[in-house]
Parts: sequence; C-alpha cells; structure tokens
Amino acid sequence: MSLLRLDKFLADAGLGTRSQVKLLLKKGLVTVNGEAAKKPEQKVDPENDLIVCEGTSLSRQEFYYYMLNKPAGYVSATEDNTAPTVLSLLKGAPGRDLFPVGRLDKDTKGLLLITNDGPLAHRLLSPRHHVDKTYLVKAAGTVTPDNLVRLENGLDIGEKSPTLPAKAKLLAPQADSTPETSPSPKAEGGQETSLVELTIHEGKFHQVKRMFQAIGHPVLYLKRISMGSLVLDEALAPGEFRALTAEETAALKAL
Ligand code: URA
Repeated sequence: MSLLRLDKFLADAGLGTRSQVKLLLKKGLVTVNGEAAKKPEQKVDPENDLIVCEGTSLSRQEFYYYMLNKPAGYVSATEDNTAPTVLSLLKGAPGRDLFPVGRLDKDTKGLLLITNDGPLAHRLLSPRHHVDKTYLVKAAGTVTPDNLVRLENGLDIGEKSPTLPAKAKLLAPQADSTPETSPSPKAEGGQETSLVELTIHEGKFHQVKRMFQAIGHPVLYLKRISMGSLVLDEALAPGEFRALTAEETAALKAL
C-alpha cells in the first residue's frame, strides 16, 4: 500500500469532506501511532500505521465500502490487459483486495459498489435476493406505452426463460438533467430517442441492452443510478468515489 495524505485517508474512511476532516485534525482528535496528528498533509501508511479518531481505530478496518461513479471506458474487473479497470480509479483508497460488486459494461456509467466484503457482495448478487437495480436508459426511437408494458411484463432475450417483471417509466425530456444524455431527446443526429428509467431485479449478461434490443430500441446510453438501497451520489463526478456512510452500509447489509 502506498503512502497517502492523512486528510485523504480520513475522508476516504468516511469521516467527512476534506474540510470537515481538517477540523477534526485541528481539534487534535486524530492520532497516528499514538501521536496527535494535526497536519492534513502528513503521509500515512494505512496498512501499517495505527490511525485512531476519537478512540475508533480506522486503519485496521476489515471491510471497506466505496461508491464509484463509473465513467465509460473502464472495465469492471480487478485486472485487465486491454483497458483500465475501475479499481485503478480507487488508487490509494484504504482496503486490501477490493473488487467491484457485479459488472457494468465498459460503456455503462454510474453506480458501482466497490468493497472487500465477499459475503455482502455474494448476497447482493445472488439471484435469490432479487436486489433492485435502476438504470437511466437512452434508447433509439420512440418507446411506446405498449413497449414499456413489454419491458415490465418480461421478455424473451434468448435465455431459457423470459426476463422477470420489471418497472419501466418513460421520463419527460425535461426530466433529463444529465449532461451526457443531452438536453434534447432528439439529439442523436436528428433521430428520435427516448429516456426510460428501468428497474430490474436480476442481472443477466447485457440484460438492459438485450431487453431494449428485444423491443426494437437499441440502447444509446446507459447509466446505473441505484442498487438496492444505495443511490448514486450525484455530487460525485464521473471517476470520483467516496466511502459509504455508516447508514448506507447498514442499509445494504439489511437487504
Ligand atoms: N445491463 C446492460 O446491458 N449493461 C450493463 O452494464 C448493465 C446492465
């Protein structure tokens, strides 16, 4: 583990923003190896230094939980020879053996949970638990109410059985505030497009793209905005991450 600034370590460990963390340091509430640490720029080794805030040890934490706003162009893997991995975006974040919980396609953006808590990841991904995953989908053409019903009722996407019931909501163009999806639903070279919020409870390979392909409206843009109780923090720019709050972690564990 490389050395990193104490204020970054504390912020990544969920103690607040960099300026909130600076206040904790100024008040002398943090110790590193037993010594009061007041300088935000102090370098620490999270694997070997004992970092304590108000009596709670932060450095020997077993499990770490991060929310990443995945940008396009990154693969959801711990290693890859052809493209940068989502883990490369968490360089320096405390925690050994971090991995992404499930996969988003290389061109899919949005919420990705990164942790080293294997049992929790297993539960969240288990088909038995049916954890909701909500996506913002921009699709080619005008998705009709009939097609929304088809998405909701379950479709043949070439698997043994049809997709499970889902929720599909056509969003008004004005509701599309994400710059990547462009302000107008007609922006794709003049062709009509539709913005749909889709919630599915399973995670088959390329499932959302295959569902939209099955109704004849190929996906042009895909962003995950929630997974179970966890909602993408829109304050995170693409490529940015933060530690989950204690409430977010507890809610995920309660799913
Ligand atoms: N469905 C897809 O088609 N791609 C993703 O990345 C996630 C869900």
